[in-house]
Amino acid sequence: MYGYLGARRDVSKNLSFAMIRSPDQDYCIQIISSSKDIEGRSLDSHRVLRSLKEWTPVKIIGTFKERQPAKDDTVLGMRLINHLEIDLQFIVPLNEIPIDLVIKEDTVFSSAQRHLQLRTERALRENLRQRSIAKQAAIKQLTHNKFIEIETPVLFKSTPEGAREFLVPTRNKGFAYALPQSPQQYKQILMASGIEKYFQFARCFRDEDLRADRQPEFTQLDLEMSFAGERDVKKCIEGVVKAVWNDVANIQLHPGSEFPEMTYQEAMASYGSDKPDLRLEAKIHNITTSLPEDLIKKITPLQSPAIDAFKMHIGISARETRKFISNFLDSPEGKPFLLNPDGQPAVFVGDTAQPLSGLSALGHEYAMAPPEELVVEDGDLLILQARKNEPFFGGSTTLGNLRLALHKAAVAQGIVSSVEKNKGFNFVWIVDFPLFSPTNDTDPGQGGTAGLSSTHHPFTAPKLASDAKLLLTAPEKVIAAHFDLVVNGVELGGGSRRIHNAEIQEFIFRDVLKMRNERIEDFRHLLDVLRSGCPPHAGFAIGWDRLMTVLLGKDSVRDVIAFPKSGKGEDPLVKSPTVMTQSQLDTYHLRLTE
Ligand code: AMO
Repeated sequence: MYGYLGARRDVSKNLSFAMIRSPDQDYCIQIISSSKDIEGRSLDSHRVLRSLKEWTPVKIIGTFKERQPAKDDTVLGMRLINHLEIDLQFIVPLNEIPIDLVIKEDTVFSSAQRHLQLRTERALRENLRQRSIAKQAAIKQLTHNKFIEIETPVLFKSTPEGAREFLVPTRNKGFAYALPQSPQQYKQILMASGIEKYFQFARCFRDEDLRADRQPEFTQLDLEMSFAGERDVKKCIEGVVKAVWNDVANIQLHPGSEFPEMTYQEAMASYGSDKPDLRLEAKIHNITTSLPEDLIKKITPLQSPAIDAFKMHIGISARETRKFISNFLDSPEGKPFLLNPDGQPAVFVGDTAQPLSGLSALGHEYAMAPPEELVVEDGDLLILQARKNEPFFGGSTTLGNLRLALHKAAVAQGIVSSVEKNKGFNFVWIVDFPLFSPTNDTDPGQGGTAGLSSTHHPFTAPKLASDAKLLLTAPEKVIAAHFDLVVNGVELGGGSRRIHNAEIQEFIFRDVLKMRNERIEDFRHLLDVLRSGCPPHAGFAIGWDRLMTVLLGKDSVRDVIAFPKSGKGEDPLVKSPTVMTQSQLDTYHLRLTE
Protein backbone atom coordinates (compact mmCIF):
# COMPACT_ATOMS: atom_id res chain seq x y z
CA MET A 1 0.00 0.00 0.00
CA TYR A 2 1.06 3.57 -0.72
CA GLY A 3 0.04 6.49 1.45
CA TYR A 4 0.99 9.07 4.06
CA LEU A 5 2.16 7.93 7.42
CA GLY A 6 -0.23 8.97 10.18
CA ALA A 7 0.31 9.40 13.93
CA ARG A 8 2.33 6.69 15.66
CA ARG A 9 1.98 5.32 19.16
CA ASP A 10 4.91 3.43 20.65
CA VAL A 11 3.50 0.94 23.13
CA SER A 12 6.83 -0.57 24.12
CA LYS A 13 10.35 -0.87 22.73
CA ASN A 14 9.16 -3.71 20.55
CA LEU A 15 5.66 -2.67 19.57
CA SER A 16 4.21 0.36 17.76
CA PHE A 17 0.91 1.26 16.20
CA ALA A 18 0.64 3.75 13.38
CA MET A 19 -1.96 4.87 10.91
CA ILE A 20 -1.48 5.01 7.19
CA ARG A 21 -3.62 7.40 5.18
CA SER A 22 -4.64 6.35 1.68
CA PRO A 23 -3.20 8.60 -1.08
CA ASP A 24 -6.52 10.44 -1.45
CA GLN A 25 -6.96 10.49 2.36
CA ASP A 26 -10.33 8.93 1.94
CA TYR A 27 -9.54 6.18 4.44
CA CYS A 28 -6.89 5.11 6.90
CA ILE A 29 -5.92 1.80 8.39
CA GLN A 30 -3.86 0.84 11.38
CA ILE A 31 -0.37 -0.66 11.03
CA ILE A 32 1.12 -2.83 13.76
CA SER A 33 4.87 -2.93 13.85
CA SER A 34 6.93 -5.32 15.98
CA SER A 35 10.67 -5.49 16.30
CA LYS A 36 10.63 -9.22 15.53
CA ASP A 37 8.61 -11.48 13.27
CA ILE A 38 6.81 -14.56 14.59
CA GLU A 39 9.91 -16.64 14.10
CA GLY A 40 11.89 -14.23 16.24
CA ARG A 41 13.91 -12.65 13.41
CA SER A 42 14.53 -8.90 13.72
CA LEU A 43 12.43 -6.74 11.47
CA ASP A 44 14.19 -3.72 10.03
CA SER A 45 10.79 -2.22 9.20
CA HIS A 46 10.28 -1.53 12.92
CA ARG A 47 13.40 0.65 13.11
CA VAL A 48 12.51 2.42 9.85
CA LEU A 49 8.92 3.13 10.91
CA ARG A 50 10.09 4.62 14.18
CA SER A 51 12.52 6.90 12.37
CA LEU A 52 9.85 8.44 10.16
CA LYS A 53 7.84 11.57 10.83
CA GLU A 54 4.12 11.81 10.44
CA TRP A 55 3.06 12.70 6.87
CA THR A 56 6.04 10.92 5.26
CA PRO A 57 4.88 9.40 1.95
CA VAL A 58 5.59 5.68 2.22
CA LYS A 59 5.25 2.35 0.54
CA ILE A 60 4.48 -0.51 2.94
CA ILE A 61 4.18 -4.23 2.62
CA GLY A 62 2.42 -6.27 5.26
CA THR A 63 -0.39 -8.72 5.84
CA PHE A 64 -3.95 -7.90 6.63
CA LYS A 65 -5.20 -9.21 9.93
CA GLU A 66 -8.64 -9.16 11.41
CA ARG A 67 -8.91 -6.85 14.40
CA GLN A 68 -11.37 -6.13 17.14
CA PRO A 69 -13.59 -3.52 15.49
CA ALA A 70 -12.48 -0.12 16.74
CA LYS A 71 -14.97 2.12 18.51
CA ASP A 72 -14.82 4.78 15.85
CA ASP A 73 -15.21 4.37 12.16
CA THR A 74 -13.70 7.74 11.28
CA VAL A 75 -10.40 9.36 12.16
CA LEU A 76 -9.80 13.04 11.35
CA GLY A 77 -12.60 12.93 8.83
CA MET A 78 -11.26 9.82 7.11
CA ARG A 79 -12.97 6.47 7.03
CA LEU A 80 -11.21 4.10 9.40
CA ILE A 81 -11.00 0.55 8.12
CA ASN A 82 -11.85 -0.69 11.57
CA HIS A 83 -12.11 -4.45 11.18
CA LEU A 84 -8.65 -4.94 9.63
CA GLU A 85 -5.12 -3.90 10.39
CA ILE A 86 -1.78 -4.40 8.65
CA ASP A 87 1.05 -6.39 10.17
CA LEU A 88 4.06 -4.44 8.92
CA GLN A 89 6.86 -6.30 7.20
CA PHE A 90 8.45 -3.68 5.01
CA ILE A 91 8.33 0.09 4.77
CA VAL A 92 10.14 2.50 2.44
CA PRO A 93 9.99 6.24 2.86
CA LEU A 94 9.44 7.86 -0.54
CA ASN A 95 10.53 11.29 0.67
CA GLU A 96 11.40 13.09 3.86
CA ILE A 97 9.59 15.50 6.09
CA PRO A 98 12.23 18.06 7.05
CA ILE A 99 12.83 18.97 10.69
CA ASP A 100 11.57 22.51 10.19
CA LEU A 101 8.19 21.31 8.94
CA VAL A 102 5.78 20.55 11.74
CA ILE A 103 2.38 19.31 10.65
CA LYS A 104 0.10 18.78 13.60
CA GLU A 105 -3.63 18.43 13.63
CA ASP A 106 -4.12 22.06 14.62
CA THR A 107 -1.31 23.59 12.57
CA VAL A 108 -2.61 26.53 10.54
CA PHE A 109 -0.75 27.04 7.29
CA SER A 110 -0.43 30.37 5.54
CA SER A 111 -1.59 30.86 1.98
CA ALA A 112 2.10 30.75 0.97
CA GLN A 113 1.88 27.06 1.95
CA ARG A 114 -1.24 26.41 -0.07
CA HIS A 115 -0.08 22.84 -0.82
CA LEU A 116 -0.07 22.08 2.91
CA GLN A 117 -3.43 23.80 3.41
CA LEU A 118 -4.76 21.54 0.71
CA ARG A 119 -3.01 18.42 1.95
CA THR A 120 -4.20 18.85 5.53
CA GLU A 121 -7.65 20.42 5.06
CA ARG A 122 -10.03 17.82 3.88
CA ALA A 123 -12.78 20.41 3.27
CA LEU A 124 -10.62 22.30 0.78
CA ARG A 125 -9.82 19.16 -1.19
CA GLU A 126 -13.46 18.20 -1.06
CA ASN A 127 -14.40 21.56 -2.60
CA LEU A 128 -12.11 20.81 -5.54
CA ARG A 129 -13.60 17.36 -5.94
CA GLN A 130 -17.14 18.78 -5.93
CA ARG A 131 -16.05 21.37 -8.45
CA SER A 132 -14.94 18.59 -10.76
CA ILE A 133 -18.28 16.79 -10.31
CA ALA A 134 -20.18 20.03 -11.00
CA LYS A 135 -18.23 20.59 -14.19
CA GLN A 136 -18.98 17.07 -15.40
CA ALA A 137 -22.69 17.60 -14.68
CA ALA A 138 -22.72 20.80 -16.73
CA ILE A 139 -20.82 19.22 -19.61
CA LYS A 140 -23.21 16.26 -19.65
CA GLN A 141 -26.24 18.53 -19.69
CA LEU A 142 -24.86 20.76 -22.43
CA THR A 143 -23.56 18.03 -24.71
CA HIS A 144 -26.91 16.26 -24.32
CA ASN A 145 -28.46 19.47 -25.69
CA LYS A 146 -26.09 19.43 -28.68
CA PHE A 147 -23.68 22.11 -27.44
CA ILE A 148 -20.10 21.68 -28.56
CA GLU A 149 -17.10 22.62 -26.47
CA ILE A 150 -14.74 24.94 -28.32
CA GLU A 151 -11.58 26.59 -27.01
CA THR A 152 -10.99 30.19 -28.00
CA PRO A 153 -7.66 32.05 -27.85
CA VAL A 154 -6.27 33.41 -24.62
CA LEU A 155 -3.90 35.72 -26.45
CA PHE A 156 -6.46 38.24 -27.66
CA LYS A 157 -6.34 41.95 -28.40
CA SER A 158 -7.13 45.03 -26.38
CA THR A 159 -10.71 46.25 -26.93
CA PRO A 160 -12.85 48.51 -24.72
CA GLU A 161 -15.32 45.77 -23.78
CA GLY A 162 -15.78 47.16 -20.27
CA ALA A 163 -13.28 45.86 -17.69
CA ARG A 164 -9.61 46.77 -17.30
CA GLU A 165 -7.42 44.27 -19.16
CA PHE A 166 -4.04 42.61 -18.69
CA LEU A 167 -1.62 43.24 -21.54
CA VAL A 168 0.94 40.73 -22.80
CA PRO A 169 3.80 42.54 -24.53
CA THR A 170 5.40 40.79 -27.50
CA ARG A 171 8.96 40.83 -28.84
CA ASN A 172 7.63 42.78 -31.78
CA LYS A 173 8.38 46.31 -30.66
CA GLY A 174 5.32 48.22 -29.42
CA PHE A 175 2.89 45.29 -29.90
CA ALA A 176 0.88 43.56 -27.20
CA TYR A 177 -1.84 40.99 -26.87
CA ALA A 178 -4.52 41.41 -24.22
CA LEU A 179 -5.85 38.53 -22.13
CA PRO A 180 -9.61 38.12 -22.66
CA GLN A 181 -11.92 39.58 -20.01
CA SER A 182 -14.34 36.98 -21.39
CA PRO A 183 -14.57 35.05 -24.67
CA GLN A 184 -17.44 37.36 -25.67
CA GLN A 185 -16.17 38.49 -29.05
CA TYR A 186 -14.82 35.09 -30.13
CA LYS A 187 -18.08 33.39 -29.19
CA GLN A 188 -20.03 35.88 -31.26
CA ILE A 189 -17.60 35.21 -34.11
CA LEU A 190 -18.35 31.50 -33.67
CA MET A 191 -22.04 32.28 -34.20
CA ALA A 192 -21.15 33.91 -37.50
CA SER A 193 -19.01 30.83 -38.23
CA GLY A 194 -21.98 28.50 -38.49
CA ILE A 195 -21.62 27.00 -35.00
CA GLU A 196 -25.10 26.64 -33.54
CA LYS A 197 -24.40 25.99 -29.85
CA TYR A 198 -21.02 26.65 -28.25
CA PHE A 199 -19.77 26.29 -24.69
CA GLN A 200 -16.47 26.50 -22.92
CA PHE A 201 -15.07 26.55 -19.39
CA ALA A 202 -13.15 29.72 -20.09
CA ARG A 203 -10.40 31.41 -18.14
CA CYS A 204 -11.11 35.16 -17.97
CA PHE A 205 -8.78 37.91 -16.83
CA ARG A 206 -9.74 41.28 -15.39
CA ASP A 207 -7.45 43.77 -13.75
CA GLU A 208 -9.99 45.00 -11.25
CA ASP A 209 -10.14 45.67 -7.51
CA LEU A 210 -10.43 42.37 -5.74
CA ARG A 211 -13.07 41.30 -3.22
CA ALA A 212 -14.22 38.06 -1.67
CA ASP A 213 -16.16 37.23 -4.84
CA ARG A 214 -13.61 38.44 -7.37
CA GLN A 215 -10.32 37.14 -8.71
CA PRO A 216 -8.14 38.67 -11.44
CA GLU A 217 -8.23 35.28 -13.13
CA PHE A 218 -11.44 33.31 -12.92
CA THR A 219 -13.51 30.72 -14.73
CA GLN A 220 -16.75 31.15 -16.60
CA LEU A 221 -19.02 28.54 -18.04
CA ASP A 222 -19.52 30.51 -21.21
CA LEU A 223 -22.08 29.66 -23.86
CA GLU A 224 -23.73 31.07 -26.96
CA MET A 225 -26.57 29.96 -29.24
CA SER A 226 -27.39 31.12 -32.75
CA PHE A 227 -30.96 31.71 -34.01
CA ALA A 228 -31.83 32.09 -30.34
CA GLY A 229 -33.21 34.69 -27.95
CA GLU A 230 -33.48 35.35 -24.24
CA ARG A 231 -35.94 32.55 -23.49
CA ASP A 232 -33.82 29.85 -25.15
CA VAL A 233 -30.77 30.87 -23.19
CA LYS A 234 -32.57 31.12 -19.86
CA LYS A 235 -34.06 27.67 -20.36
CA CYS A 236 -30.70 26.20 -21.12
CA ILE A 237 -28.99 27.89 -18.13
CA GLU A 238 -31.73 26.71 -15.79
CA GLY A 239 -31.17 23.18 -17.10
CA VAL A 240 -27.46 23.41 -16.34
CA VAL A 241 -27.93 24.91 -12.87
CA LYS A 242 -30.57 22.34 -11.96
CA ALA A 243 -28.35 19.47 -13.16
CA VAL A 244 -25.40 20.77 -11.13
CA TRP A 245 -27.43 21.21 -7.93
CA ASN A 246 -28.85 17.75 -8.44
CA ASP A 247 -25.53 15.99 -9.08
CA VAL A 248 -23.49 17.79 -6.42
CA ALA A 249 -25.97 18.41 -3.64
CA ASN A 250 -28.87 16.12 -4.53
CA ILE A 251 -31.15 19.16 -4.44
CA GLN A 252 -34.01 19.49 -6.94
CA LEU A 253 -34.35 23.20 -7.65
CA HIS A 254 -37.81 24.46 -8.68
CA PRO A 255 -38.92 21.04 -9.98
CA GLY A 256 -41.21 21.44 -12.96
CA SER A 257 -41.12 25.23 -12.88
CA GLU A 258 -38.89 28.07 -13.98
CA PHE A 259 -36.91 30.45 -11.81
CA PRO A 260 -38.92 33.60 -11.04
CA GLU A 261 -38.15 36.95 -12.68
CA MET A 262 -37.86 40.44 -11.25
CA THR A 263 -37.15 43.67 -13.06
CA TYR A 264 -34.02 45.64 -12.28
CA GLN A 265 -36.10 48.67 -11.17
CA GLU A 266 -38.11 46.50 -8.80
CA ALA A 267 -34.99 44.87 -7.35
CA MET A 268 -33.43 48.28 -6.75
CA ALA A 269 -36.62 49.76 -5.31
CA SER A 270 -37.50 46.86 -3.01
CA TYR A 271 -34.08 45.50 -2.07
CA GLY A 272 -31.72 48.37 -2.93
CA SER A 273 -29.62 45.93 -4.94
CA ASP A 274 -29.51 44.44 -8.42
CA LYS A 275 -28.61 41.14 -6.79
CA PRO A 276 -31.27 40.86 -4.10
CA ASP A 277 -31.02 38.26 -1.40
CA LEU A 278 -34.62 37.13 -1.32
CA ARG A 279 -34.06 35.24 1.91
CA LEU A 280 -33.96 38.58 3.72
CA GLU A 281 -37.58 39.54 3.83
CA ALA A 282 -37.55 43.16 5.06
CA LYS A 283 -38.31 45.05 1.85
CA ILE A 284 -37.63 48.70 1.17
CA HIS A 285 -40.65 50.99 0.63
CA ASN A 286 -40.83 54.44 -0.90
CA ILE A 287 -42.73 56.48 1.72
CA THR A 288 -42.06 59.97 0.36
CA THR A 289 -45.70 60.92 -0.03
CA SER A 290 -46.62 59.79 3.50
CA LEU A 291 -44.13 62.07 5.24
CA PRO A 292 -44.51 65.68 6.39
CA GLU A 293 -42.44 68.26 4.47
CA ASP A 294 -40.58 69.52 7.54
CA LEU A 295 -39.38 66.00 8.39
CA ILE A 296 -38.07 65.51 4.84
CA LYS A 297 -36.15 68.78 5.12
CA LYS A 298 -34.50 67.55 8.32
CA ILE A 299 -33.45 64.29 6.68
CA THR A 300 -31.89 65.61 3.48
CA PRO A 301 -30.55 68.69 1.75
CA LEU A 302 -31.94 67.36 -1.58
CA GLN A 303 -34.79 69.16 -3.32
CA SER A 304 -37.75 66.86 -4.11
CA PRO A 305 -35.99 63.71 -2.93
CA ALA A 306 -37.34 60.18 -2.70
CA ILE A 307 -37.45 58.81 0.85
CA ASP A 308 -37.15 55.07 1.26
CA ALA A 309 -37.56 53.08 4.44
CA PHE A 310 -37.22 49.54 5.69
CA LYS A 311 -37.98 47.86 8.96
CA MET A 312 -35.73 45.40 10.69
CA HIS A 313 -37.44 43.12 13.14
CA ILE A 314 -34.90 42.50 15.86
CA GLY A 315 -36.78 41.17 18.85
CA ILE A 316 -34.74 42.89 21.56
CA SER A 317 -35.79 45.76 23.81
CA ALA A 318 -35.96 49.33 22.50
CA ARG A 319 -33.04 50.23 24.76
CA GLU A 320 -30.85 47.44 23.37
CA THR A 321 -31.82 48.31 19.80
CA ARG A 322 -30.74 51.93 20.38
CA LYS A 323 -27.42 50.67 21.66
CA PHE A 324 -27.03 48.32 18.67
CA ILE A 325 -27.67 51.00 16.06
CA SER A 326 -25.55 53.66 17.71
CA ASN A 327 -22.63 51.22 18.06
CA PHE A 328 -23.06 50.29 14.41
CA LEU A 329 -23.07 53.88 13.20
CA ASP A 330 -19.94 54.60 15.26
CA SER A 331 -18.11 51.57 13.82
CA PRO A 332 -15.96 51.69 10.66
CA GLU A 333 -18.76 49.81 8.83
CA GLY A 334 -21.30 52.44 9.86
CA LYS A 335 -19.26 55.61 9.29
CA PRO A 336 -19.67 55.85 5.49
CA PHE A 337 -23.45 56.00 5.91
CA LEU A 338 -23.11 59.13 8.07
CA LEU A 339 -21.05 60.83 5.35
CA ASN A 340 -23.68 60.45 2.62
CA PRO A 341 -24.11 63.87 0.96
CA ASP A 342 -27.79 63.04 0.31
CA GLY A 343 -28.34 62.93 4.08
CA GLN A 344 -27.71 60.55 6.95
CA PRO A 345 -30.01 57.62 7.61
CA ALA A 346 -32.86 58.66 9.92
CA VAL A 347 -33.20 56.05 12.64
CA PHE A 348 -36.37 55.28 14.59
CA VAL A 349 -36.79 52.60 17.20
CA GLY A 350 -40.17 51.06 17.95
CA ASP A 351 -40.87 51.80 21.62
CA THR A 352 -44.28 51.09 23.10
CA ALA A 353 -43.44 53.23 26.13
CA GLN A 354 -43.34 56.31 23.86
CA PRO A 355 -46.24 58.14 22.20
CA LEU A 356 -47.14 56.64 18.81
CA SER A 357 -44.69 53.79 19.56
CA GLY A 358 -41.72 56.15 19.20
CA LEU A 359 -42.67 57.24 15.69
CA SER A 360 -44.23 60.63 16.49
CA ALA A 361 -41.43 62.47 14.68
CA LEU A 362 -42.70 60.84 11.49
CA GLY A 363 -45.91 62.81 11.78
CA HIS A 364 -49.28 61.83 13.09
CA GLU A 365 -50.60 60.89 9.67
CA TYR A 366 -47.78 58.42 8.99
CA ALA A 367 -47.64 56.99 12.50
CA MET A 368 -51.39 56.26 12.52
CA ALA A 369 -51.32 54.32 9.26
CA PRO A 370 -47.84 53.19 8.26
CA PRO A 371 -47.52 50.79 5.31
CA GLU A 372 -48.36 47.31 6.54
CA GLU A 373 -44.83 45.99 6.19
CA LEU A 374 -43.37 48.89 8.17
CA VAL A 375 -45.50 48.53 11.29
CA VAL A 376 -42.99 48.39 14.14
CA GLU A 377 -43.07 46.36 17.32
CA ASP A 378 -41.15 47.16 20.45
CA GLY A 379 -37.40 47.11 19.68
CA ASP A 380 -37.79 47.09 15.88
CA LEU A 381 -35.62 49.39 13.82
CA LEU A 382 -37.09 51.69 11.18
CA ILE A 383 -34.56 53.38 8.92
CA LEU A 384 -35.33 56.17 6.46
CA GLN A 385 -32.93 57.33 3.79
CA ALA A 386 -33.20 60.04 1.16
CA ARG A 387 -31.95 59.69 -2.40
CA LYS A 388 -32.29 61.65 -5.61
CA ASN A 389 -35.68 61.03 -7.14
CA GLU A 390 -34.32 59.48 -10.35
CA PRO A 391 -34.47 56.13 -12.11
CA PHE A 392 -31.99 53.68 -10.64
CA PHE A 393 -28.54 53.05 -12.10
CA GLY A 394 -25.69 50.98 -10.74
CA GLY A 395 -25.61 47.92 -8.52
CA SER A 396 -27.02 49.17 -5.23
CA THR A 397 -28.53 52.06 -3.26
CA THR A 398 -27.24 53.43 0.03
CA LEU A 399 -30.24 52.06 1.88
CA GLY A 400 -29.78 48.67 0.21
CA ASN A 401 -26.16 48.58 1.43
CA LEU A 402 -27.18 49.71 4.91
CA ARG A 403 -29.84 47.02 5.08
CA LEU A 404 -27.26 44.31 4.34
CA ALA A 405 -24.61 45.80 6.63
CA LEU A 406 -27.05 46.00 9.55
CA HIS A 407 -28.19 42.45 9.00
CA LYS A 408 -24.57 41.28 8.96
CA ALA A 409 -23.78 43.19 12.17
CA ALA A 410 -26.90 41.83 13.89
CA VAL A 411 -26.02 38.27 12.88
CA ALA A 412 -22.41 38.73 14.06
CA GLN A 413 -23.67 39.90 17.45
CA GLY A 414 -26.14 37.03 17.69
CA ILE A 415 -29.10 39.46 17.77
CA VAL A 416 -30.85 37.97 14.78
CA SER A 417 -30.31 34.53 13.36
CA SER A 418 -28.60 34.20 10.04
CA VAL A 419 -30.94 33.76 7.09
CA GLU A 420 -28.38 31.43 5.61
CA LYS A 421 -29.22 28.51 7.84
CA ASN A 422 -32.35 27.06 6.39
CA LYS A 423 -33.73 29.08 3.55
CA GLY A 424 -32.12 27.16 0.74
CA PHE A 425 -31.29 28.67 -2.61
CA ASN A 426 -33.43 31.58 -3.80
CA PHE A 427 -32.81 31.95 -7.51
CA VAL A 428 -34.16 34.89 -9.45
CA TRP A 429 -33.65 36.28 -12.95
CA ILE A 430 -33.11 40.03 -12.93
CA VAL A 431 -34.33 41.52 -16.21
CA ASP A 432 -34.89 44.89 -17.87
CA PHE A 433 -31.60 46.51 -16.97
CA PRO A 434 -30.87 49.90 -18.51
CA LEU A 435 -28.70 49.36 -21.61
CA PHE A 436 -26.45 52.27 -20.63
CA SER A 437 -25.42 53.73 -17.28
CA PRO A 438 -23.67 56.98 -16.41
CA THR A 439 -19.89 56.52 -16.74
CA ASN A 440 -18.19 56.14 -13.36
CA ASP A 441 -14.60 56.45 -12.15
CA THR A 442 -14.11 52.81 -11.24
CA ASP A 443 -14.97 51.04 -14.51
CA PRO A 444 -13.17 52.03 -17.69
CA GLY A 445 -16.30 51.43 -19.79
CA GLN A 446 -15.88 52.09 -23.49
CA GLY A 447 -14.08 55.42 -23.09
CA GLY A 448 -16.69 57.33 -25.12
CA THR A 449 -17.48 60.99 -24.53
CA ALA A 450 -21.25 60.60 -24.14
CA GLY A 451 -20.98 60.30 -20.34
CA LEU A 452 -22.55 56.87 -20.75
CA SER A 453 -21.12 53.35 -20.75
CA SER A 454 -22.73 50.05 -21.52
CA THR A 455 -24.21 48.67 -18.31
CA HIS A 456 -22.84 45.23 -19.22
CA HIS A 457 -21.03 45.23 -22.54
CA PRO A 458 -21.57 47.13 -25.77
CA PHE A 459 -22.82 44.08 -27.72
CA THR A 460 -26.14 43.79 -25.84
CA ALA A 461 -29.23 44.44 -27.96
CA PRO A 462 -32.03 46.84 -26.94
CA LYS A 463 -34.96 44.80 -25.64
CA LEU A 464 -37.80 45.95 -27.89
CA ALA A 465 -38.15 47.87 -31.15
CA SER A 466 -39.47 50.76 -29.04
CA ASP A 467 -36.19 50.71 -27.08
CA ALA A 468 -34.16 50.79 -30.27
CA LYS A 469 -36.06 53.92 -31.27
CA LEU A 470 -34.89 55.69 -28.09
CA LEU A 471 -31.21 55.06 -28.80
CA LEU A 472 -30.52 58.54 -30.08
CA THR A 473 -33.12 60.59 -28.28
CA ALA A 474 -33.07 59.12 -24.77
CA PRO A 475 -30.35 56.44 -24.52
CA GLU A 476 -30.57 56.38 -20.72
CA LYS A 477 -34.15 55.10 -21.03
CA VAL A 478 -33.31 52.15 -23.29
CA ILE A 479 -33.99 48.76 -21.72
CA ALA A 480 -31.48 45.99 -22.50
CA ALA A 481 -32.20 42.44 -23.65
CA HIS A 482 -29.97 41.47 -20.74
CA PHE A 483 -30.62 39.14 -17.82
CA ASP A 484 -28.64 38.24 -14.72
CA LEU A 485 -29.03 35.09 -12.69
CA VAL A 486 -28.94 35.88 -8.98
CA VAL A 487 -29.04 33.53 -6.02
CA ASN A 488 -29.01 34.51 -2.34
CA GLY A 489 -27.59 37.95 -3.05
CA VAL A 490 -24.88 36.72 -5.44
CA GLU A 491 -24.76 37.51 -9.15
CA LEU A 492 -24.02 34.10 -10.60
CA GLY A 493 -23.99 35.09 -14.21
CA GLY A 494 -25.21 37.36 -16.93
CA GLY A 495 -26.16 37.18 -20.56
CA SER A 496 -28.18 38.75 -23.31
CA ARG A 497 -29.46 38.77 -26.84
CA ARG A 498 -26.77 40.42 -28.93
CA ILE A 499 -26.73 43.01 -31.63
CA HIS A 500 -26.19 40.98 -34.79
CA ASN A 501 -26.49 43.86 -37.21
CA ALA A 502 -23.22 45.64 -37.99
CA GLU A 503 -24.84 49.03 -38.67
CA ILE A 504 -26.63 49.09 -35.32
CA GLN A 505 -23.48 47.95 -33.54
CA GLU A 506 -21.41 50.68 -35.15
CA PHE A 507 -24.15 53.24 -34.50
CA ILE A 508 -24.00 52.39 -30.79
CA PHE A 509 -20.21 52.73 -30.69
CA ARG A 510 -20.13 55.96 -32.67
CA ASP A 511 -23.37 57.85 -32.06
CA VAL A 512 -24.58 56.65 -28.69
CA LEU A 513 -21.39 55.97 -26.72
CA LYS A 514 -19.47 58.51 -28.81
CA MET A 515 -16.30 56.42 -28.91
CA ARG A 516 -13.23 57.72 -30.69
CA ASN A 517 -12.63 56.40 -34.17
CA GLU A 518 -9.47 54.47 -33.17
CA ARG A 519 -11.38 52.64 -30.44
CA ILE A 520 -14.18 51.76 -32.85
CA GLU A 521 -11.55 50.38 -35.21
CA ASP A 522 -10.46 48.01 -32.39
CA PHE A 523 -13.82 46.33 -32.97
CA ARG A 524 -13.53 46.31 -36.77
CA HIS A 525 -13.11 42.49 -36.76
CA LEU A 526 -16.47 42.13 -35.02
CA LEU A 527 -18.23 44.62 -37.29
CA ASP A 528 -16.89 42.81 -40.37
CA VAL A 529 -18.02 39.47 -38.99
CA LEU A 530 -21.53 40.77 -38.19
CA ARG A 531 -21.72 42.27 -41.68
CA SER A 532 -21.13 38.83 -43.24
CA GLY A 533 -24.69 37.67 -42.55
CA CYS A 534 -24.28 36.76 -38.89
CA PRO A 535 -27.46 35.12 -37.55
CA PRO A 536 -29.28 36.46 -34.47
CA HIS A 537 -27.71 35.03 -31.35
CA ALA A 538 -27.79 35.15 -27.56
CA GLY A 539 -25.71 33.73 -24.76
CA PHE A 540 -24.70 33.73 -21.16
CA ALA A 541 -21.76 33.21 -18.81
CA ILE A 542 -21.93 31.69 -15.34
CA GLY A 543 -19.14 32.70 -12.98
CA TRP A 544 -18.05 29.17 -12.09
CA ASP A 545 -16.06 30.13 -9.00
CA ARG A 546 -19.06 31.99 -7.62
CA LEU A 547 -21.42 29.15 -8.48
CA MET A 548 -19.26 26.71 -6.53
CA THR A 549 -18.92 29.14 -3.61
CA VAL A 550 -22.70 29.45 -3.29
CA LEU A 551 -23.42 25.80 -3.92
CA LEU A 552 -20.96 24.67 -1.24
CA GLY A 553 -21.97 27.45 1.18
CA LYS A 554 -18.49 29.02 1.34
CA ASP A 555 -17.62 32.62 2.13
CA SER A 556 -15.09 33.32 -0.59
CA VAL A 557 -14.28 32.17 -4.11
CA ARG A 558 -10.81 31.38 -2.73
CA ASP A 559 -12.26 28.34 -0.99
CA VAL A 560 -13.16 26.71 -4.30
CA ILE A 561 -10.02 27.60 -6.28
CA ALA A 562 -6.87 25.50 -5.93
CA PHE A 563 -4.44 28.39 -6.20
CA PRO A 564 -6.30 31.66 -5.67
CA LYS A 565 -4.70 35.07 -5.82
CA SER A 566 -4.56 37.23 -2.70
CA GLY A 567 -6.39 40.53 -2.28
CA LYS A 568 -3.38 42.18 -3.89
CA GLY A 569 -3.59 39.92 -6.93
CA GLU A 570 -0.57 37.88 -5.88
CA ASP A 571 -0.09 34.14 -5.72
CA PRO A 572 1.67 33.86 -2.34
CA LEU A 573 2.91 30.32 -3.06
CA VAL A 574 4.74 30.86 -6.36
CA LYS A 575 5.16 34.55 -5.52
CA SER A 576 3.77 36.01 -8.69
CA PRO A 577 3.85 38.53 -10.20
CA THR A 578 7.64 39.02 -10.28
CA VAL A 579 9.76 42.07 -10.94
CA MET A 580 10.80 42.21 -14.58
CA THR A 581 14.52 41.85 -15.17
CA GLN A 582 16.39 44.30 -17.38
CA SER A 583 16.85 41.60 -19.98
CA GLN A 584 13.08 40.89 -20.03
CA LEU A 585 12.39 44.59 -20.38
CA ASP A 586 14.88 44.71 -23.27
CA THR A 587 13.28 41.69 -24.96
CA TYR A 588 9.92 43.43 -25.00
CA HIS A 589 11.33 46.88 -25.77
CA LEU A 590 9.96 48.25 -22.49
CA ARG A 591 11.37 50.97 -20.27
CA LEU A 592 10.30 51.75 -16.72
CA THR A 593 9.51 55.37 -15.98
CA GLU A 594 10.16 56.87 -12.56
P1 AMO B 1 -20.01 39.24 -16.85
O1 AMO B 1 -18.99 40.28 -16.91
O2 AMO B 1 -21.31 39.57 -16.15
O3 AMO B 1 -20.46 38.77 -18.30
O4 AMO B 1 -19.41 37.94 -16.19
C1 AMO B 1 -20.20 36.78 -16.01
C2 AMO B 1 -20.01 36.24 -14.61
O5 AMO B 1 -18.62 36.01 -14.33
C3 AMO B 1 -18.40 36.18 -12.93
N1 AMO B 1 -17.31 37.14 -12.72
C4 AMO B 1 -16.28 36.95 -11.87
N2 AMO B 1 -16.00 35.94 -11.05
C5 AMO B 1 -14.87 36.02 -10.31
N3 AMO B 1 -14.01 37.07 -10.38
C6 AMO B 1 -14.26 38.11 -11.20
N4 AMO B 1 -13.38 39.12 -11.27
C7 AMO B 1 -15.44 38.09 -11.98
N5 AMO B 1 -16.00 38.93 -12.89
C8 AMO B 1 -17.12 38.34 -13.32
C9 AMO B 1 -19.68 36.67 -12.32
C10 AMO B 1 -20.42 37.22 -13.51
O6 AMO B 1 -21.80 37.19 -13.33
N6 AMO B 1 -19.30 38.07 -21.67
C11 AMO B 1 -20.29 38.31 -20.65
C12 AMO B 1 -21.33 37.22 -20.57
C13 AMO B 1 -22.29 37.20 -21.72
O7 AMO B 1 -22.86 38.28 -22.03
O8 AMO B 1 -22.49 36.11 -22.32
C14 AMO B 1 -19.60 38.46 -19.30
O9 AMO B 1 -18.42 38.21 -19.13
O10 AMO B 1 -20.37 35.56 -11.77
